[in-house]
Amino acid sequence: MNSNPIAMDRGRGPEHDEALLAQLSAECERRWPLTAQALHAIHRYAMLPPGKLLRPLLVLESALAVGGDAERVFPAAIGFECAHVASLIHDDIIDHDDIRRGCASVRHYFGLERAILAGDSLFFQWFDALGECLARGVPAEQVAAAMRIQAVTGMELCRGVELELSLGGDIRCGVDRYLEVARLKTAVLLSSACRIGAVLGGTGREPERARTLGEFGEALGLAFQIRDDLLPYDSCPGTIGKPAGSDLRNRRPTLPLLLAYQAGTRDDRALIEHALSTDADCASAHTPVLHVIHRTGAYAASLRIAAEHAGRAYRLLAALPATSSRERLRQLAQTAVSRKE
Ligand code: IPE
Ligand code: IPE
Ligand code: MG
Repeated sequence: MNSNPIAMDRGRGPEHDEALLAQLSAECERRWPLTAQALHAIHRYAMLPPGKLLRPLLVLESALAVGGDAERVFPAAIGFECAHVASLIHDDIIDHDDIRRGCASVRHYFGLERAILAGDSLFFQWFDALGECLARGVPAEQVAAAMRIQAVTGMELCRGVELELSLGGDIRCGVDRYLEVARLKTAVLLSSACRIGAVLGGTGREPERARTLGEFGEALGLAFQIRDDLLPYDSCPGTIGKPAGSDLRNRRPTLPLLLAYQAGTRDDRALIEHALSTDADCASAHTPVLHVIHRTGAYAASLRIAAEHAGRAYRLLAALPATSSRERLRQLAQTAVSRKE
C-alpha cells in the first residue's frame, strides 16, 4: 500500500490537506534535525514547529489543480516555507517584535546579527529547492521560469516592505496605497506559490491556468493580509501568537485605522492621529483605538473588503477543471478571512 498522500491520491476528500500538512511537517523535521551546528539550529528554531504552511499548500494544490505531479514540486513547496519564514525573521527585525508563533522571535532569541544571517540563508534555500526539482525531473525551462518568478517576487516583497515603512504615521495615505503594500509584501508571495506550483508541476503548456492561479493567489493574499491587520482588534488578540500592539507601535496605517478615520467623529480622528504619532504611548492607545474601530463599523467594513477579495479568488477558480484540489484551494480562500490566527 502506498502511504504517500501525494503519490497515492490526486486529492480525493477534504482530509487530503491534513495528509499534505503532515507530510510537509515531517519533511521539515527531516531537513532541520536537532544539531549543534549553529546556523542550522536557528533554522530549526524558525521552521519548527511549523505555522499554517499556507504557501507550501498553495504550491502543491496548484500543481495538482493543473493535473500535475506534486511529488516533483515538493522541494519547491518547502522552499516557499523557507522564503516565508525568512521574511518573518526579517519582518520581526524591522518591526522590533519579540514574539512569533507564541515564542521568542529569532531576533529576540538569537540576536540581530544571527537573525539577519538565518533569514538570508533561508532565502537562498528557496532557490536551492528549484535545483532539487530539476533533479526530480522537472524540465530545465520550467525550472528557469520558476526561478525568474521567485526572483521578481523577492524584489517585490522588499519593495512592499519599504513602501510600508515610507507610509509610517500617514493616516491620510489612502486605501489604495494600503492595498498596494498588502499586495507587494504579502499577496505577491502567495500568488507566486500558486503560479510556481502550476509552472513546475504541469507540462509547461498551461500558461492560462498558471495565470489564473497567480490571480487567485494574489486575491487570496489581499484577503489574508487584511484579515491579518484585523487580528489585533479581535476579541481575543492575546491568542494570535504575535504582539497585538505591533502595528500601532510601528505607526502602521492599516485598513481598520484608515476606515475608522474616514467614518469617525472629529474626536475619533484626533485619537487615531495621536495613536500614530511619534509621542504616543502605544500600549495605552490600543484599547481606545480598538473601541473606535468597532464603534465606527471599520472592523466590519474591513472584514467585508477581505471577504470581497476572497470571493474574487473563489470565483477565479471557476476557470479551472473541477477537481478536489480546486475545492481545497477554494476552502483556503475562505479560511483566509475566517481564521483566528
Ligand atoms: C504571517 O503569515 C505574515 C503575513 C503575511 C500576514 P502566516 O499567518 O501565514 O504565518 P504562519 O506561518 O502561519 O506563522
Ligand atoms: C507581513 O508583515 C509580511 C511580511 C512578513 C513581509 P506583517 O508585519 O504585517 O506581519 P505580522 O503581523 O508581523 O505577522
Ligand atoms: Mg510584523
